[in-house]
Amino acid sequence: MRALRVALGLLVVALGAYLLLVVFEAPAPAEPAREFTSSRQCMECHADVFAEWESSAHANAWVNPDVRALSNDFANTDCIDCHAPRPIFESGIGKRVLPRASRRAEGVDCIACHLLPDGGVAGTVDSQRAACRPVARRELASPDYCGVCHNQHKTVDQWRESRYADQGVSCVDCHMPLRDGDPNNGRDHTCRGGHDVELVKTAVDLRARREGGALVVEVENVGAGHSFPTDERSRASDVFWRPLAEGGADPEPWRHLYRFRSPYRHEVGLEDTWLPAHETWTGRVEDPGEGPLEVAIFYKLSPYWTTPEAPDPDAEAQRLHTVEVRP
Ligand code: HEC
Ligand code: HEC
Ligand code: HEC
Ligand code: HEC
Ligand code: HEC
Repeated sequence: MRALRVALGLLVVALGAYLLLVVFEAPAPAEPAREFTSSRQCMECHADVFAEWESSAHANAWVNPDVRALSNDFANTDCIDCHAPRPIFESGIGKRVLPRASRRAEGVDCIACHLLPDGGVAGTVDSQRAACRPVARRELASPDYCGVCHNQHKTVDQWRESRYADQGVSCVDCHMPLRDGDPNNGRDHTCRGGHDVELVKTAVDLRARREGGALVVEVENVGAGHSFPTDERSRASDVFWRPLAEGGADPEPWRHLYRFRSPYRHEVGLEDTWLPAHETWTGRVEDPGEGPLEVAIFYKLSPYWTTPEAPDPDAEAQRLHTVEVRP
């Protein structure tokens, strides 16, 4: 009896082991580890991520004509550091990035962001099988990591003072969101910012109303995790108003009310008017006339804007929001 039970037990175990083998394929053999000297090599296995990155400002950082003009074609070598950096995990998070000497045209590339100094790449999983040998490194998605390049104008410090920091809503949640919101799909590498007007629209809410005879305008930073606009000092956002043109009449010229912008150091006499996260700016026009009014907020990327004295919102500017105010 006992012998039979043992034999039966063994049979069950053997069957189980066989089924396990059939259901779960034997793991693929480990790929030999590769050495990476160009981000093009990553494309072979990460074509989708590569395509996203290629359309990002990061991929454009070295060839961008605005950067080349302002840096005198990188004759100003200080500009090379963040626009063609060595790997960040090599220079260290919290430290200044270092300039690289080769393949600068790749700008802020896969290797700069992912390559680890002891070989392998920083990611969210550990694998000894993939050719790039990923190692899970939480710092990769941290604000301090973005901050090695993005805190020169205090974007990370502004975020740290905001409620987003308390809530754990970080840079990547807004700029590298999970693809289709699925944690298994990885993060969008297009890294949208000021060049995407649809993203910029989500930063602010524009409101306007009559108070007595006066026009009262409010702009609230509802969607930027830092000051609006942030980082690049050439960015500017202007609030304008004018009488509303009705019945096919020609619109009157826009009248300037306010500019949100942090000036360059050499621009004496201009104040820092960035709008911090969650805050509301209020402006007034005491005598805007009797009729219906139109208020709009515009955003500009270019360092070669028209001056605040002669503002022309239609030159290089994008309209974010418009509000009509009727008596
Ligand atoms: C500490 C890192 C760092 C250094 C050094 C640096 N940059 Fe940048 N640069 C950035 C970051 C980050 C951005 C993106 C900011 C943004 O989009 O708001 C940027 C954006 C720019 C832009 C705007 C590009 C666009 O498409 O609108 C220009 C122009 C520029 N940099 C020129 C320069 C010049 C000229 C120098 C040297 C004097 C320089 N940068 C040095 C980090 C740096
Ligand atoms: C020969 C193919 C191949 C090449 C080339 C390659 N990878 Fe990978 N990589 C893989 C595979 C396969 C995985 C998935 C490993 C896993 O999930 O177990 C992976 C995983 C990763 C991960 C982690 C994914 C995660 O979910 O966290 C990162 C980051 C990564 N690769 C970056 C790179 C970078 C950057 C390069 C170029 C420097 C590169 N890879 C080149 C095949 C490759
Ligand atoms: C500006 C820095 C930066 C650049 C440039 C960059 N990555 Fe990433 N990458 C990240 C961050 C941040 C994550 C998210 C990590 C996390 O979720 O913890 C990530 C995640 C990944 C992952 C994990 C899966 C996924 O899709 O999110 C892979 C694979 C990857 N990157 C490959 C690449 C490749 C290939 C390139 C070049 C084509 C590249 N990355 C360029 C910062 C960068
Ligand atoms: C090695 C330096 C470096 C690191 C690290 C870095 N960036 Fe950038 N980033 C840049 C530079 C340089 C530019 C501007 C490139 C240009 O326009 O020429 C830029 C541009 C951007 C933009 C602006 C896009 C636009 O439309 O103008 C966003 C958003 C951005 N980065 C987000 C991030 C986030 C989020 C992280 C962290 C996951 C990060 N970056 C890490 C250097 C860096
Ligand atoms: C709650 C969402 C949110 C969070 C969190 C967030 N951002 Fe932004 N970010 C935005 C929006 C919206 C804009 C466009 C308006 C603006 O320029 O302020 C923007 C703009 C930017 C720009 C300017 C792009 C340009 O072209 O000038 C950079 C650079 C940037 N963010 C970097 C960061 C970094 C670094 C962090 C983390 C410290 C971060 N952001 C956190 C929403 C967010």
